Amino acid sequence: MRTTTLIALTLASSSILALTGFVLAKEDTKDALPLGSVSRAEGLQAWKRIEAVVTHPRCANCHVDAKAVPIWTPAGETTSRAHGMNIHGGPSRIGTETMVCSTCHMTSTQPNPAAPAPPHAGIPWQLAPVDFLWYGQTGADICRQLRDPARNGGRDAVGLLEHLRHDASLGGFIPRSWEPGAGRTTPPGTFEDHVKDMALWGAAEQPCPG
Ligand code: HEC
Ligand code: HEC
Repeated sequence: MRTTTLIALTLASSSILALTGFVLAKEDTKDALPLGSVSRAEGLQAWKRIEAVVTHPRCANCHVDAKAVPIWTPAGETTSRAHGMNIHGGPSRIGTETMVCSTCHMTSTQPNPAAPAPPHAGIPWQLAPVDFLWYGQTGADICRQLRDPARNGGRDAVGLLEHLRHDASLGGFIPRSWEPGAGRTTPPGTFEDHVKDMALWGAAEQPCPG
């Protein structure tokens, strides 16, 4: 009796999961354009605009190397430097080894406060995985990383678009980089422009400069 209930439950929940997965996938891929429908030249132009976003401090400050030192750009300064107060993400990338990021960066979808208050998001504040290294890299380096499933979390071009929408649905870091709180600069364009550029770049088969 117990086993049967368990099996029934497992079956029920996996089909619910499968169903939600399907619905989500349909939702998320509406941004994708047919592969090959965009020329290489247009794809490279889209990449130039993407590059200006991913190298911007609001994005790159979290996408750092294995030293796990977050970068900040304090209000009134124009160049980025190591986060003050000796903060380290550690191997956890979320600071569990020393002081968790959420000690100061709350998990909240409320509008970001003005600098120098710590920014927040709808998911726990943390560094990006080491593989997703952007800070201090050239645009061409980041381009090759982003199109490499071995270094981008196993994502193809459509998977990258899904990540943008998924992150947005959680009030995550990506759309909020365009609403960082007064006193902080924003990446060029809008979040929706960025999604469109990623779709163009993907449909052109992710060309990289150089
Ligand atoms: C607060 C830190 C933080 C900020 C700010 C941030 N990210 Fe990330 N990013 C992460 C984390 C953590 C992950 C890992 C999430 C995952 O893979 O599910 C990630 C993963 C990604 C990925 C997945 C694939 C890859 O190769 O990186 C993309 C794309 C991405 N971020 C884009 C951006 C863009 C664009 C911005 C700025 C508009 C940005 N991020 C700002 C922390 C951040
Ligand atoms: C003791 C409090 C504190 C802790 C803990 C802390 N931060 Fe911060 N962080 C701040 C403050 C305050 C700012 C904003 C400074 C400013 O704008 O002048 C900030 C800014 C940042 C920025 C820059 C945001 C931007 O848009 O440029 C990043 C990235 C960042 N923190 C990452 C982290 C990560 C990752 C952790 C955990 C490993 C962490 N912080 C832990 C207080 C903290």
